[in-house]
Amino acid sequence: MRAVDLIQKKRDGGQLSTEEIQWLIAAYVAGKVPDYQMSAFAMATYFKGMTLAETRDLTMAMVESGDQLDLSAIPGIKVDKHSTGGVGDKVTLILAPLVASFGVPVAKMSGRGLGHTGGTLDKLESIKGFKVEVPEADFIRQVQEKGIAVIGQSEQMVKADKMLYALRDVTATVDTMPLIASSVMSKKIAAGADAIMLDVTVGDGAFMKTLEQAEELSKTMVSLGKEVGRQTIAVMTDMSQPLGQAIGNRLEILEAVQIMKGQGRSDIRDFICQLAQIMLKLGGKGISLREIKEHLTQGQALQKFEELIAAQGGQVQDIYRPVETAFVYEVRADEGGYLAKLPALYFGHFAMEIGAGRSVKTDHLDYDAGILFDKKLGDAVTKGDLLAKIYSNQEIPQKKITEFAKNVTISNEKVQTKEILKIID
Ligand code: URA
Repeated sequence: MRAVDLIQKKRDGGQLSTEEIQWLIAAYVAGKVPDYQMSAFAMATYFKGMTLAETRDLTMAMVESGDQLDLSAIPGIKVDKHSTGGVGDKVTLILAPLVASFGVPVAKMSGRGLGHTGGTLDKLESIKGFKVEVPEADFIRQVQEKGIAVIGQSEQMVKADKMLYALRDVTATVDTMPLIASSVMSKKIAAGADAIMLDVTVGDGAFMKTLEQAEELSKTMVSLGKEVGRQTIAVMTDMSQPLGQAIGNRLEILEAVQIMKGQGRSDIRDFICQLAQIMLKLGGKGISLREIKEHLTQGQALQKFEELIAAQGGQVQDIYRPVETAFVYEVRADEGGYLAKLPALYFGHFAMEIGAGRSVKTDHLDYDAGILFDKKLGDAVTKGDLLAKIYSNQEIPQKKITEFAKNVTISNEKVQTKEILKIID
C-alpha cells in the first residue's frame, strides 16, 4: 500500500477499509509514513469525515499501536472518566477521590494541558513531590491498596495518538469529530477500565461548540466503547464559562480542597455529586445524592484525596498552601446587574498567557499563576463588587486588565445556567 493513495481516497470522499487504516497507522508509528503525509491525511479527514466503521477501525488501530493495561488483578468494576477538555476543569481532582471513597476503584490516566485547556497532570504536579510517572505494577498495586491512582500515560501506550495528537495540534486538525473520538477512546480502551464516563464539554471553551456537535461525538464514542465491551456513558457539560471559580494549577487544587471541605460554590458541588452518582452506578453502586453529598462535604473525599497525594509522593500539607504571586490584580464591576457572559476561551487564553498554561508543549508552567472568579454567570452584581482576582508573577499592562474587564459582561437579565446539558448512554 502507499500512503498517497489512501490520502487521495479520503480527499475524494472515499471510505477506507479496515486493512487500509491498520496499515496507515502501523506504518506511521513505524516511521514509514512521514508527518507531512499524516498531516495531509488528517486534513482530508477534517474535510471529508469518517463513517462509524472507519472511526472504529482507526480507534482499534491506535489501541494496537502500543501497550495496553490489564487491570484484571484489581477486584471490582474499574471505572474511568475522561473530559474532552475545558477551562478551570478540576472535576477529576474531586470526582476521583469522591467515587473511590465509596469503594469503587478509580484507575485513571490523565493528560496535560495545551492551549487554553488545562490538564489534571499539571495540576497534580503543582503539589510538591507528586509523581505522575508511575510504573504499571505500582499503579495496579496502588489501586488495589488505596482504591485510587491518577497517573500519566506511559510512552508506550497508544503511541499513534501521541504522534497524531502532536501533529493535529500544529496543523489545525484537532477539532474534528472522528479524530477526537478515536483519540479519546483509544486511550480509554488501552487504559483497561471496565466502564467509562465521558465528560463531553460544549461551548465557547470546548472543542465542540454546539450541542449538536457534542451529541454526535458522544454517540460515536459511546458506540465505540460498547463495541469493545466497555460500558460507556457520555455526559454533555457546559463549557461556555470556566468551570468553578479558579483557572490555574494551584488555584484549582485549592478550590478542589475547598469543595471537599464542604465550602466553595454549591452549583459546582451539586454538579460533581451528579457526575459521581453516574460513575458510581457504572461501578455497580446505586448511591443516593444525599449520601454522595455527605462524602463530598464531610471529609471522606478529602481523606481519599490526601491518600492519593501521599501514595504518589506528594506533600499532603502542600495542598493547603495559599498561592503567592508577585502581582495580584483585582477586577471590579463598573455597573450593577447580573453576570451575563464569561467567555471560557478568552479567560483560558488569558490564564495561559500569564503562565498557567502552555502555548507549545515545551513551555514551562507557573503553578501559582491564574484567575479566581468571585462571580459566575447568573450571579447578582453591584457596582464596585469584586469580579475576579488575577494572580501573576509577570506585571500585566493596564490595557490587558481593561480588556479582561470588558470580557465580563453584566446585563439586566439573569441568565439561567445548567451544568449537565444531556446524557447519552
Ligand atoms: N482530548 C483528547 O484526548 N483527544 C482529542 O483529540 C481531543 C481532546
